Amino acid sequence: MSAFSKTIAVTGGAGFIGSHVIRLFVKKYPDYRVVNIDALTYAGNLENLEDIDRLPNYFFEHADICDEQVINGLYKKYAFDAVIHLAAESHVDRSIMDPLAFVRTNVLGTAVLLNLSRAYWEKDHSNKLFYHVSTDEVYGSLGDTGYFTEKTAYDPRSPYSASKASSDHLVKAYFHTYGLPVVISNCSNNYGSHQFPEKLIPLMINNILTEKPLPVYGKGENVRDWLWVEDHARAIDTIFHEGKTGETYNIGGHNEWKNIDLIHVLCSIMDKKLGRSEGSSTGLIRFVKDRSGHDLRYAIDASRLNNELGWKPSLQFEEGLEKTVDWYLQNQEWVNHVTSGQYQQFYTEQYIKR
Ligand code: NAD
Ligand code: DAU
Repeated sequence: MSAFSKTIAVTGGAGFIGSHVIRLFVKKYPDYRVVNIDALTYAGNLENLEDIDRLPNYFFEHADICDEQVINGLYKKYAFDAVIHLAAESHVDRSIMDPLAFVRTNVLGTAVLLNLSRAYWEKDHSNKLFYHVSTDEVYGSLGDTGYFTEKTAYDPRSPYSASKASSDHLVKAYFHTYGLPVVISNCSNNYGSHQFPEKLIPLMINNILTEKPLPVYGKGENVRDWLWVEDHARAIDTIFHEGKTGETYNIGGHNEWKNIDLIHVLCSIMDKKLGRSEGSSTGLIRFVKDRSGHDLRYAIDASRLNNELGWKPSLQFEEGLEKTVDWYLQNQEWVNHVTSGQYQQFYTEQYIKR
């Protein structure tokens, strides 16, 4: 008999959001055994979990979710009661460069996990759950008005969002066809500590700090709805414990920003913190070639999650941005580790050569 009340596999736990989810679960539920399954791609970094990796209910398995044999071995070894599935290729620009990598991990990897969950839970579904973490990008692009609700039709437009939409469909198919207990959440853009600096906010923080050009795609008028990553982790906790099986919950910050306005705020925060004259970092802004198929606007209607399960974001954006900037300024060693090596090659392909 295990001393733990539940064993949860968290895939992609060494990444940005996954590491926040693991931290929350491992600390809040000492009676849960939390097994982080991660292939440690360029985006996965065990340094993200240094503060909790010695806790007795945390375990790490270095594995690729597409490797059915290895993952089968983990299901056998741990007898998972639940899976919280975050492992994915997650960066839209990379999906434009190399779509097949996204099909492999996001579609095939999800199918491998679903199939093993079905096999291991076939005889007894009670108290089992496959929680699939997805994105608002599956809904496509909004015009100037309106919101994505759980009923919005899927309309993905990048290889990344198409691969995530495919994985969502597979999850729903396993629910309808096999009765696999599943739940899905679709979240808007996250920000906070430990985000790999290929994404907008940490990339801009890093470039402002090092006085490199700030590459704004197109006219900078695209809109994103930003959510503090720890609020996303809290939402996952709520849905994991209280969400209805077979359902989808949208998660968002009700916090829309045009990219260019957000970059101006970041410049201003950093000018103050770095003792530079007000407005000096905005001089680094460069308008560059737009992302192909660039979605204009994302905005989530998260009222279902609020009305039914009582979740709402905890942090104001300006406060969250300050905290995020502080974290990056205080963790330059982390930034140096993750931006050495392969990152330089990606940066050259994405920003210098094109
Ligand atoms: P991330 O890129 O920071 O981390 C992904 C993690 O998955 C890494 O640790 C990586 O090593 C691991 N991984 C990748 N391929 C793997 C494989 N084949 N096998 C095992 N592990 C593998 O991603 P993130 O931003 O933390 O996103 C996590 C999840 O949340 C993704 O499913 C993403 O689609 C979703 N999501 C992200 C956001 C956002 O704003 N970042 C918003 C909504 C939803
Ligand atoms: O909406 C949720 C999604 O948010 C997640 O599913 C994805 O995993 C996550 O990467 C994010 O996707 P985006 O494409 O919205 O995030 P990104 O940080 O790449 O870009 C945010 C906006 O900033 C987008 O309009 C493109 C723009 N941008 C981005 C970068 C990296 C720039 O103008 N310049 C840049 O250098």
